[in-house]
Amino acid sequence: MTASRISFTLAPLIALTGMGWGIAMAISHDHATAPAHAHLNLLGWVSLFLMGLFYRFHTELDRSRLARFQVVVWAAASIAIAIGIGLIYLGTPQAEPLAAISSIVLFADMLVFAWLVIRTVR
Ligand code: HEM
Repeated sequence: MTASRISFTLAPLIALTGMGWGIAMAISHDHATAPAHAHLNLLGWVSLFLMGLFYRFHTELDRSRLARFQVVVWAAASIAIAIGIGLIYLGTPQAEPLAAISSIVLFADMLVFAWLVIRTVR
């Protein structure tokens, strides 16, 4: 499976989860986890889909092991940081290491993506 196909499969599923989460917040009038909902949607839906678009335009890179690894790590860390932030906002500060580690993984993964993009377009 190519990196773009992984992205185009996971990103809409994450969007549905994030939107369902938003609807649940709206219905319950409890917006406590809004920052976690925002991170899930912006990292797991918007960013992941954009990454998939980039890979789809660069077919050789799209098939590479590094690109596939990059999007899988991105999807997993996006979900992990949303859970971590959500738990913190629900009053479980013990979830802070989960949010912190996920944020560092996401940063490192974005470094990989940035390197792939710049190397490809220059
Ligand atoms: C069915 C779709 C959605 C619903 C019902 C929904 C619902 C909500 C609700 C109730 C809040 C809390 C507002 C507040 O307390 O001020 C919120 C915040 C937010 N949502 Fe959504 N949302 C949806 C989709 C999305 C999507 C697709 C994105 C991004 C691509 C997004 C990004 C955000 C952001 C950035 C915030 C602000 C978070 C914050 O202030 O901490 N939402 N949403």
